[in-house]
Amino acid sequence: MIRLGIIGCGRISDLHAHAYLDHPEATIVAVADPDAANLATRGAAWGVPESGRYQDYRDLLARSDVDAVEILVPHHLHAPITLDAMDAGKHVSLQKPMALSMDEAALMVRAGHERGVTFKVFENFVFYPPVVRAKELVENGEIGDLLSIRIKSNPGWSPTAWDVPAAASAWRIDESKCGGGPLVFDDGHHKFAIAWYFLGLADRVHAFIGSSMDGVLDCPSIVSWHHPDGQVGSLEVAYSPDLRLHTAQYAQDDRVEITGTRGVIWVTRGHGRMLDVPPVILYRDGETRGFSDMPTGWESSFLNSGRHFVDALRDGTSPSLTGEEGAEVLAFALAAQESAKTGTAAAPRVAGRDGDAAAAGRGRGLPREAGLG
Ligand SMILES: NC(=O)c1ccc[n+]([C@@H]2O[C@H](COP(=O)([O-])OP(=O)(O)OC[C@H]3O[C@@H](n4cnc5c(N)ncnc54)[C@H](O)[C@@H]3O)[C@@H](O)[C@H]2O)c1
Repeated sequence: MIRLGIIGCGRISDLHAHAYLDHPEATIVAVADPDAANLATRGAAWGVPESGRYQDYRDLLARSDVDAVEILVPHHLHAPITLDAMDAGKHVSLQKPMALSMDEAALMVRAGHERGVTFKVFENFVFYPPVVRAKELVENGEIGDLLSIRIKSNPGWSPTAWDVPAAASAWRIDESKCGGGPLVFDDGHHKFAIAWYFLGLADRVHAFIGSSMDGVLDCPSIVSWHHPDGQVGSLEVAYSPDLRLHTAQYAQDDRVEITGTRGVIWVTRGHGRMLDVPPVILYRDGETRGFSDMPTGWESSFLNSGRHFVDALRDGTSPSLTGEEGAEVLAFALAAQESAKTGTAAAPRVAGRDGDAAAAGRGRGLPREAGLG
């Protein structure tokens, strides 16, 4: 049984908790959050006794019966809390983006190795079943050699979206706490992770990052990039204030188009659902095939990613993403920020691999040990 402590009981923690509450080999034994209301609500909902609820996460880390922690806090706290958890000998699953800078990321990766603990950067989009299915189709050679990936993020509004407390938005629009804007840096991490999953790390990134709603939103924006083997990719982010969406979580839709030498694959949804078509569509040889035999709720990506962490701890295997992989995706996201500021292309840089960051990626394998797909 893996005994978990959850540090940070805010908006996203509900989806994380389900992965562990549903897992026969995991149990949540402690929670920490300085916000007394979040602590009480989530602690009670997940069956954690009051004696296991802490306002100071260091009290949770002091417990010898916590094997691993899930860290779900604002980004500027990722590095200090992760380093403390590793010092306490805990395995760590840390929400993306792993840090605000590559220096912080390198410190965390090194500390994980030195302490001999498992370090997972929690990036759920590469566990989203339609994305995993698209990857399988690519690996089966259905569209030939990859040429490009095109990703679209389209926030709008939704009467069925979950409630996002003002506190969860406040730190996201403070660059010193978030590391960049809410759509291109924070949410963008997922989109850079998808590109990395299919094509590895880019070697050049160029970004135009716009501004709307009095500077609150970093859009409309467009990021384009080039991979060492010649493929290209792009991310377009547009907020449509009057676009009504179907969703159970964030009011946003995501779409991905992957082009190969003999065919094209579309992933037609993400957070939300706009298109009345199968979640994965393949076009090749003059024929279109739709694939609908998979869960499509966005929460399934959290369930699969959380289960994968428990399985990795149980089996002693590497999690997806490892700290090193998380650092690659962070480098991708930071390069977009840098390019938008300088107006020139930026090269993602991973510490210790100067000038060779891009060689590290080259299209990631499926997290097959999680039994996905
Ligand atoms: N994968 C995804 O799709 C996704 C979606 C949303 C959020 N996230 C990530 O999850 C993390 C949390 O985001 P959120 O939306 O839940 O934010 P949130 O603001 O709703 O929750 C953060 C929680 O951390 C708590 N906190 C602050 N300081 C703390 C400390 N020192 N110790 C313990 N807890 C502390 C806050 O009180 C709050 O309850 C971020 O890294 C974010 O990027 C990921």
